[in-house]
Amino acid sequence: MKNKEKWFEHIFNNSGVGILIVDKNRTILELNKTFCDIVGYKYEELIKKHARILHISDESSDKFGKIAFNTVLENNTLDLEYKFRHKNGYPIWIKITGDVIRDKQEVLWIITNINKRVMFQEELAKLNDTLNIKIDSQVKVLREKDRQLQYQGRLAQMGEMLNMISHQWRQPLTSISATTSFLQAKLFINEFNQEEFLEELSLIEDSAEHLSNTINDFRNFFKVDKQKVITNFKNIVENTLKIIKPILTNSHINVTTNFESHDNIYTLENELRQVVLNILKNAEDAFIENDIKNRDIELHTFSKNNFAYLEIIDNAGGIKDENLNKIFNTYFTTKSSTNGTGLGLCMSKTIIEDNCKGKLTAINNKNNGATFIIKLPIKK
Ligand SMILES: Nc1ncnc2c1ncn2[C@@H]1O[C@H](COP(=O)(O)OP(=O)(O)O)[C@@H](O)[C@H]1O
Ligand SMILES: [Mg+2]
Repeated sequence: MKNKEKWFEHIFNNSGVGILIVDKNRTILELNKTFCDIVGYKYEELIKKHARILHISDESSDKFGKIAFNTVLENNTLDLEYKFRHKNGYPIWIKITGDVIRDKQEVLWIITNINKRVMFQEELAKLNDTLNIKIDSQVKVLREKDRQLQYQGRLAQMGEMLNMISHQWRQPLTSISATTSFLQAKLFINEFNQEEFLEELSLIEDSAEHLSNTINDFRNFFKVDKQKVITNFKNIVENTLKIIKPILTNSHINVTTNFESHDNIYTLENELRQVVLNILKNAEDAFIENDIKNRDIELHTFSKNNFAYLEIIDNAGGIKDENLNKIFNTYFTTKSSTNGTGLGLCMSKTIIEDNCKGKLTAINNKNNGATFIIKLPIKK
């Protein structure tokens, strides 16, 4: 018996947790060393004192007495995280577990110091707040960069557009100037035939109309989309080829189409056409750069697992393996500074993946060329 008591005494004094025993009136009857260490008091300073001394205020002590103490007295165990007051005045977080003992006359409290953990959590919360502020400001910076990028992209596209318009206009302009020279010559030698003049004038009119039509085509093509529409890849391809085919033909590129899918997609039409245009222009650049003799581009549409695909397949030499995962990066270009901006594919990826919820990828194909694959969800 004596031995057992000694053991308990030993455990009580050397336990890693704080132990506090109070009576029904909350007078402190016993406490161990660990508890003293937690709250910073000496044994003599606490023994026989009212437990109020441990609380951060009398109000908080009364509340604890009414709620926590009574819960324990009614034979319920209690386990909560609570704030005590250290002897030095500052608050300390503890985990406190209570049990009623000795015929409900006394309460045994087991207390562990969780101050470090709570402080850490509070510190973490503060850090989180500053982190959020930092993230917000970084997001703003990125947005601004994005805006500038789009602006540069637009400028680059406008340059390409002017280049394409000049291609389209060359033929009708030549024909107008040829006709006017012819008419001038006739007038000069006084050979004036009204019927012939009217015929020639109507030729000029046709050419002028052609000029105006191409400008309208371009205006529509480069209009900024506000709303998504239901369309399909065949439409997109045909409209894009209408604009760029003369340039490709001029570069001796043979373009074929293979439409296996007519499924609907729901997308920003003009933006998607610009993506196709970017890819076709890149292929043209590659053909010229690599000096390829037989130049083929195939545009192939198909559907699989609720997705519509457009593959743009060239035989222009392909993309170096080490560049395959870089070509979609901003400003990545293998062209000289006058020919390349490195924006086309990066903008295209944004359009397809962010604006249209699809995927744009590139691989090298077995025709010694590159294949660009646009994947968009089918609209039912
Ligand atoms: N069809 C292609 N064949 C070979 N390389 C390509 C092809 N398309 C794109 N690339 C490579 O991807 C790079 C990035 O293209 P892009 O973003 O349009 O910028 P840019 O055309 O201004 O260089 C090109 O510089 C080129 O090296
Ligand atoms: Mg490009």
